Amino acid sequence: MPLTRRTLIAVSLSLTFAFTPAAVFAASPTPAKGEHGMVVTAQHLATEVGVDVLKKGGNAVDAAVAVGYALAVVYPNAGNIGGGGFMTVRMKDGRTTFLDFRERAPLAATKTMYLDKDGKPIKGASLDGYLAVGVPGSVAGFEMAREKYGTLSRQDLMAPAIAYAKDGFVLNQGDAATFAGSADRLAKDPAAAAIFLKKDGKPYGIGEKLVQPGLAASLSAISEKGPDAFYKGTIADEIVKASGAKGGILAKGDFEQYAVRELKPVTCSYRGYEIISSPPPSSGGVIICEILNVLEGYPLSYLRAGSAETVHVMVEAMRHAYVDRNSALGDPDFVDNPVSKLLDKNYAKDIRDKIDPFRAGVSKELMPKGFGESKETTHYSIIDKDGNAVAVTYTLNGSFGAGVVAGGTGILLNNEMDDFTQKPGVPNLYGLVQGEANAIQPKKTPLSSMSPTIVTKDGNPFMVIGSPGGSRIITITLEAIVNVIDHGMDIQQAIDAPRIHHQWLPDTVYVEPFGLSPDTEKLLAAMGYHLDLSDQTWGQAAGILVGGKSLAEIEKGGGARYNGAIDSRAAAGEALGY
Ligand code: DON
Repeated sequence: MPLTRRTLIAVSLSLTFAFTPAAVFAASPTPAKGEHGMVVTAQHLATEVGVDVLKKGGNAVDAAVAVGYALAVVYPNAGNIGGGGFMTVRMKDGRTTFLDFRERAPLAATKTMYLDKDGKPIKGASLDGYLAVGVPGSVAGFEMAREKYGTLSRQDLMAPAIAYAKDGFVLNQGDAATFAGSADRLAKDPAAAAIFLKKDGKPYGIGEKLVQPGLAASLSAISEKGPDAFYKGTIADEIVKASGAKGGILAKGDFEQYAVRELKPVTCSYRGYEIISSPPPSSGGVIICEILNVLEGYPLSYLRAGSAETVHVMVEAMRHAYVDRNSALGDPDFVDNPVSKLLDKNYAKDIRDKIDPFRAGVSKELMPKGFGESKETTHYSIIDKDGNAVAVTYTLNGSFGAGVVAGGTGILLNNEMDDFTQKPGVPNLYGLVQGEANAIQPKKTPLSSMSPTIVTKDGNPFMVIGSPGGSRIITITLEAIVNVIDHGMDIQQAIDAPRIHHQWLPDTVYVEPFGLSPDTEKLLAAMGYHLDLSDQTWGQAAGILVGGKSLAEIEKGGGARYNGAIDSRAAAGEALGY
């Protein structure tokens, strides 16, 4: 066998912890600055839409609604009105809330709908085409946010999205990259191909204009008539008709009874900061808090970012928390989630007691991994002049969702049904091996990892953060928080820093390219870790820090009021303050 970097790592070396080699960090650009507001999204035009709303006097929720609709047009691989998501809100007076506008399983869904007669999963059934589609929630979610917490009219907030759909927008290099690679999939659905592919079957490229008249008409109908145009009118009719014709099970009743849930966010404390994040049906907030509770018992700032000791305790905390994620959590209307147990600081201490300081833990069994590209969900962070903060993560699940557009609606539909457990023990798109708590039932919402998060300090907003990345959303968001609070990075560095990930099964530590020094890799291998030195990066975090670009600047008396950073991995994104 040739002696490669990978095989070298597998060699067990008897090294001690006499030194802590640092990870290899590239320089990051300076965060964007603003005194009155900040918008950070994965698409530059959508960011500008958000800033314009703030400049016109709209609040952060108004901007979040306008950005949500804009991304559905200018970032169609993840931005959507045919999918769903979560919005975490903290108003200037300290009120917090969480809007769950994620997809629900159709009424005709069954626990075994993706299994063949022998009980084996049918390849692609939960991912491609109409059978994969959950009942969409974005339109209802944005309208509830606007009505309860916004200040501007629906027509004002939807106008920029309608204009971009009707008149088109010219793709830059980052935009074009989001379309590349999906042509084969989109070509399978004539309605999707007619919109997103050129006559020669190729995706739109740099400098070319994407016009979406069908979507413009759907958005205009929603703007004029409200969500009923989507859930009770012709849009629902068209989706149901296309679903029925192409093997789906969506019915008009699914749309008529869709309801947004307003929930209490999950909260926990971490070294004097308060974390406000997503409750079930997301696992995100609970699992971030569980991991942070474990990490609170270790001196991470002393152990330093990227050291073998830091990676060791982080991976072990992740390993234990993901077992809980995958087995215990599900839709709160169907499952009794043990949230208070998982958030108990004594439970975290019990986990710490099980962590051997010198050896890797061992996950029960090895499972194949199934993680692919990581740009299919999108997160955006917004704060306004009054300090109202909004974090939104929403998605079609896979890139361009189920890859289908119903009739002339121009609306891409999600494949969120894949987030359910199709069969206990069988990994999903993200390699997650899940259990009964997340089994399919009519009207149930699949368990998510999306983690739109707001961090406060002494009752004031401190950080707004979140990311796409499937099962890795949790560790991406967690690592950005730890990088700011423990490692003193500025918000851009915290987001750009190389990532690690472990999710219990497979029992592998994923490491981004050049994420750890070779010395650290060897130390970890010696402890018994199996490292996957990935050749791809993952995630596209979008974050805001309040009062300075880093803790050091904040403690010195402050820099710019708002400091924004879009992940350097997000080619089309922009952080913009004013
Ligand atoms: O809700 C979830 O956890 C997934 N549907 C998120 C999918 C995702 O992040 C895809 N993009 N990376």
